[in-house]
Amino acid sequence: MKAVIITQPGPPGVLQIAERPIPGFTADEVLIKVAAAGVNRPDVAQRKGHYPPPAGVPQDIPGLEIAGTITQVGGNVTRWKVGDKVCALVAGGGYAEYCNVPGGQCLPVPPNFTFIEGASLPETFFTVWSNVFDRGRLQPGETLLIHGGSSGIGVAGIQMAKAMGSKVYVTAGSDEKCRICKELGADIAINYKTADFVNAIDHLTNGKGIDVILDMVGGSYTPRNLQVLADDGRLVMINMMEGKDTQIDLSVILRKRLTITGSALRPRSVAFKNDVAASLEKNIWPLLASGRIKPVINAIFPASRAAEAHALMESSQHTGKIILSFEV
Ligand SMILES: NC(=O)c1ccc[n+]([C@@H]2O[C@H](COP(=O)([O-])OP(=O)(O)OC[C@H]3O[C@@H](n4cnc5c(N)ncnc54)[C@H](OP(=O)(O)O)[C@@H]3O)[C@@H](O)[C@H]2O)c1
Repeated sequence: MKAVIITQPGPPGVLQIAERPIPGFTADEVLIKVAAAGVNRPDVAQRKGHYPPPAGVPQDIPGLEIAGTITQVGGNVTRWKVGDKVCALVAGGGYAEYCNVPGGQCLPVPPNFTFIEGASLPETFFTVWSNVFDRGRLQPGETLLIHGGSSGIGVAGIQMAKAMGSKVYVTAGSDEKCRICKELGADIAINYKTADFVNAIDHLTNGKGIDVILDMVGGSYTPRNLQVLADDGRLVMINMMEGKDTQIDLSVILRKRLTITGSALRPRSVAFKNDVAASLEKNIWPLLASGRIKPVINAIFPASRAAEAHALMESSQHTGKIILSFEV
């Protein structure tokens, strides 16, 4: 099969097409002929050598989400059959014509969705569900602030939280990105390059603050996040794009009874991912089928141009998802 491999840690050009054997699969897995694979920021970190893949997945083939057709089914898998069209969360190896994945990490491609659209869902929807609703315990009627509202994570988070009955605030790096976030349902979008989000939220919430924050920025945002959290607020961290070091006033945590938490999806167990898949299928897949939640695709590249896809992601010019196609 053809695969996009990381020839060595470095800039986008280190991504090259190579021939690789079609992977095997266990009794608990299915083999998927991949039609499309989503590009995610963690793939960029992996390409640079900063996010090593876990054992048991191809070490030089990135890719955390795919959509395609099942071609083989392991003996213990009862849910799926050859020919089923699925999208799936994988721990690596997604940028390839074939990929093996535990049966429980597959979900049906929603009705009327293309494979491109299906491939845009798993990584961000699993991440938002497990962090915003599980760890962050966001409740209907509560407020959510998403930093990076125009990211792949952001466009999923806005729509999921709105559909579950929350008021959604976002920050984004341009007026155009803010406009798109509002079009997706965000109640308030703050261009962090022209406004201070702490002052803006203090004003907009009459000093009450935000119940849950989903943060991928870290660094200097952390004390500011604690400042804008409401009493009993929860800060959920999924990355530290500005940096992992920060200084915070611990007394704020006691005064407002705050929770600071976070998680990374890829190293979690298959059982955990199966549980998240089941929650998504119950709570979110019907909203995709009905059109209440929509995929947001910014750009599609043939897999042979994966380097351009990564360069676009690193430019941060995109809004929503970037997808690699294996069918063109
Ligand atoms: N923990 C997990 O399990 C998990 C899983 C998936 C993704 N993630 C993380 O979630 C984040 C979003 O992922 P994604 O794939 O949706 O990424 P993405 O589409 O590339 O979006 C990232 C966006 O973040 C914004 N941003 C804000 N501050 C930034 C900074 N200091 N440096 C770079 N960008 C900054 C940029 O838009 P602006 O113009 O608004 O600045 C950028 O477009 C990434 O940090 C990723 O690593 C975590």
